[in-house]
Amino acid sequence: MSRAYNFVSLLLFACLALATEPVVKVLNGSYSGQHLPQFAQDLFLGMPYAQDTGGQNRFRIPQALNETWEGSRPAKQYSDACPDHEPDDDALYGMSENCLSLNVVRPAGTALNDRLPIMLWIGLPTYNLTYIVQRSVEVGRPIIGASINYRKGGWGNMYSIEIQVGGSISE
Ligand SMILES: *[C@@H]1O[C@H](CO)[C@@H](O)[C@H](O)[C@H]1NC(C)=O
Ligand SMILES: *[C@@H]1O[C@H](CO)[C@@H](O)[C@H](O)[C@H]1NC(C)=O
Ligand SMILES: *[C@@H]1O[C@H](CO)[C@@H](O)[C@H](O)[C@H]1NC(C)=O
Repeated sequence: MSRAYNFVSLLLFACLALATEPVVKVLNGSYSGQHLPQFAQDLFLGMPYAQDTGGQNRFRIPQALNETWEGSRPAKQYSDACPDHEPDDDALYGMSENCLSLNVVRPAGTALNDRLPIMLWIGLPTYNLTYIVQRSVEVGRPIIGASINYRKGGWGNMYSIEIQVGGSISE
C-alpha cells in the first residue's frame, strides 16, 4: 500500500516537474522559457545577445550586454524583427531597433553536461526549428537549435570610416 502510494506520488512529482516552465541560468541572470509538451521541447525565445541598437547605438557595432538581474526574465516570445523593407517580418513579430536576439530550442530536460551539438540558423523565422530538433531526437542524434536576428541594410552596414570620422556617432 505504502509502496503504491510512494509510486503514485513519485509519478505526480515527475508530471509536475515536467509541466513547470524551464529556467536556464546565463552569466548575469536567468531566463524562463516555455515547455512544449507535444514536442517534448523547451523554447527560450527573444533573449538579447547585445544591447538595443537604437539611439546612440544606431549604426554601431553591437554593444556588449552589461546588465545583471535578479529572478528570471521571460523568454517566451520572439523579439521584434530588425528594421527591414519587408513588411512580412513586421506583420509576424513587430519591428524595432531592439532586435539583436537569440532563440533556443532544446529537447526537454537537456542538462549542461549533455554537451549536445548546436545548429545555428541565421535566416527567415518561417523555418521553425521545432521540427528539425524533433527529427534529430527521432534519429538518435539530438541537437539544440538556435537562431538569431541581425541588422540588414544601412542599419547593419553603415558603420564606415566616413561615418566614424564624420562625427555622426558620438563615442
Ligand atoms: C555582468 O555583470 C557585470 C557586473 O555587473 C558586468 O560588468 C558585465 O558586463 C555583465 N555581463 C553581461 C553579459 O551582462
Ligand atoms: C550599459 O551600457 C550603456 C552604454 O552602452 C550605458 O548607457 C548603460 O548605463 C550601461 N548599463 C550598466 C548597468 O552599466
Ligand atoms: C513551431 O510550430 C509549432 C506549431 O505551430 C509551435 O507549437 C512551436 O511553438 C513552434 N516552434 C518554435 C520554435 O517557434
